[in-house]
Amino acid sequence: MKYNIDQIKENALQELESADSKKSLESLFVKYLGRKGRVTQFLRNISNLPPGERPEAGKKANLAKKSLDAAFQKKRRDIESKALQTEDRIDVSLPGRSPATGSLHPITRITDRICDIFVRFGFDIAEGPEVETDYYNFEALNIQKNHPARDMQDTFYISDNIVLRTHTSPIQVRIMEQQAPPVRIIAPGKVYRCDSDLTHTPMFHQVEGLMVDKKATFGDLKGMLTLFIHQIFDDKISLRFRPSFFPFTEPSAEVDILCVICRGKGCRVCSGTGWLEVLGCGMVHPAVFENAGYDTDLYKGFAFGMGIERIAMLKYRIDDIRKYFENDLRFLRQF
Ligand code: DAH
Repeated sequence: MKYNIDQIKENALQELESADSKKSLESLFVKYLGRKGRVTQFLRNISNLPPGERPEAGKKANLAKKSLDAAFQKKRRDIESKALQTEDRIDVSLPGRSPATGSLHPITRITDRICDIFVRFGFDIAEGPEVETDYYNFEALNIQKNHPARDMQDTFYISDNIVLRTHTSPIQVRIMEQQAPPVRIIAPGKVYRCDSDLTHTPMFHQVEGLMVDKKATFGDLKGMLTLFIHQIFDDKISLRFRPSFFPFTEPSAEVDILCVICRGKGCRVCSGTGWLEVLGCGMVHPAVFENAGYDTDLYKGFAFGMGIERIAMLKYRIDDIRKYFENDLRFLRQF
């Protein structure tokens, strides 16, 4: 009995050494220091000893209990700090996660970029209604009723005389009615056509440009559009002005750029031609000036119009226009 407590303490320390979890530590604690534990039992049994031995045994037992308490506490701290390093815990010292902030839609970015370029050329931004009268969308632009050009655009009619605008060109007329020359405007916006496939959506975006002054030549138009194409594509890419027809311009042209994919060799994207059509343009038709009340002897003007998705598709090399409107974050996050 006299030396038994040393042995108990020794065993406890040894077992403590190999305890590696909170659970094994707690069962060890119960075994030695719990209500029925060995140290506790020992202390309880002291009263059964001969009176002469009691003080020394008591002292020894209390010392042993104290040092075991301390050893258990230390082991508990060790196990806890190890767990902190390995277990999934909240680490308050980690930097916080920043909330998702979103970004501008690629079409918005391209629209802003197009407008920025023309604003630097001295153009003002203009806007017009998306629900438009037949007059502004067609008639005033020299596209008369029964004119074959109306077949070029599959129109959403709200009523006989009201349409969803099929292009941004009506803004030209609205601005000219409100403002005397000189005019330099760039007008972005949504337009609508009954059309849906890989390269067409019923709603898409266009930018319209108009410049009217005493002297505005086809040469000015060519120079300005060439500079614009080079800036928007960040590339001094070749372009060509191909004769074309629009009822509201005369002469009219379509502008092609050398295919951004094959550089003129001919590929699937340019249908083997080596060229990609990017916009329409021309000198404002006198009939349009007359409709707007401008003096056709005094003023000349040029106009142009382009599809924003078309520019964005070529710039970002996207072959399906619908991707722009599906709101798939995996697509949108790339811009
Ligand atoms: N409005 C035409 C379209 O939607 C594009 C266009 C062509 C606009 C020539 C113009 C222009 O201002 O001069 O296809």
